[in-house]
Amino acid sequence: MKQKRVLSGVQPTGALHLGNWLGAIKNWVDLQHQHDTFFCVVDLHAITVPQDVKTLSENTLSTAAMYIACGIDPKKSSIFIQSHISAHCELCWILNCLTPINWMERMIQFKEKALKQGDNVSIGLFDYPVLMAADILLYQPDLVPVGEDQKQHLELARNIAQQRINSRFGKDKENLLKIPDALIMKQGAKVMSLNDGRNKMSKSDPNANSRITLLDPPDLILKKIKKAKTDQFIGLEFNNPDRPEADNLLNIYSILSNKSKEASYEECKEMGWGMFKPLLAELVIDSLKPIQSQYKELMDDKEGLGNIIKSGNEKANEISSLTLQKIKDAIGLINKL
Ligand code: TYM
Repeated sequence: MKQKRVLSGVQPTGALHLGNWLGAIKNWVDLQHQHDTFFCVVDLHAITVPQDVKTLSENTLSTAAMYIACGIDPKKSSIFIQSHISAHCELCWILNCLTPINWMERMIQFKEKALKQGDNVSIGLFDYPVLMAADILLYQPDLVPVGEDQKQHLELARNIAQQRINSRFGKDKENLLKIPDALIMKQGAKVMSLNDGRNKMSKSDPNANSRITLLDPPDLILKKIKKAKTDQFIGLEFNNPDRPEADNLLNIYSILSNKSKEASYEECKEMGWGMFKPLLAELVIDSLKPIQSQYKELMDDKEGLGNIIKSGNEKANEISSLTLQKIKDAIGLINKL
């Protein structure tokens, strides 16, 4: 049977955090054993908001290294950099010309991010979901593993592919583009901020104590968890709408300890915060230890990392250029003479 293809990506906008890992990358690691997997560092998405030049290039390499440190095996998966594959921008332009503005005006993440940018909102930020659609559709994937917050963007990509490309340009009901499915984890799809269990953990939160990054040293992890918002109740529990922090931290505990939700609840239902927090901190520290030491080794061998990316880029280029040519032909852009 033909392997299903999987494509996903993370923006290199800062150290990856527990949400990126538990909501997306952890899922990628499992998928790579049975699927044809492509993981992109989406640097062109990062520049939709202002970035420091040096930090962006460092973050791009370190995000690729972090994929591998989290368990992405370069022998099984292609790891590549978005800006190295020009087909992303080319298809984005074509899709721009086919996507109605009012579809874009509904994008919740744009509205949230635009608010933070004040007067400095770029066209790129508005267009971000179309670039994401291009990222995805170029690889004709079956599955796109992402966190809950990307659901709307995935829906847009599906609508563009179906309504604007396949149904308009596909001859004899031919599907020019595959309609991919979002793959969202049952647990971990929305890891919440440590400061406020009603907001998601985010790289752009100005308060660094709101997130645990995958590179935080043990003492900092302990400090952040000790400072995390709590409530006046004793005992951890899931799904109590008045206790989002308890739900979030118990969820993290359950995922990292590989214990079911029921078992985690049984274990922690009578624990006070003073007992639970050090237990959680130790678990997070132990879970991140192997990732951090592998990350360090990878970053100490930039040449090796560069070779991994080069070979990922080659594979990405092969597949994406075929799709791009197919779409160009279908819409009437003539081939080079
Ligand atoms: P980004 O860089 O914001 O996040 C990368 C992945 O992490 C997930 N995620 C979370 N999951 C659970 N809890 C959280 N608190 C949390 N925060 C982030 C995101 O859902 C995502 O899966 N637009 C994308 C990047 C992108 C992309 C793509 C993804 C560009 N092109 C093509 C898939 C396919 C983004 O900004 O992710």
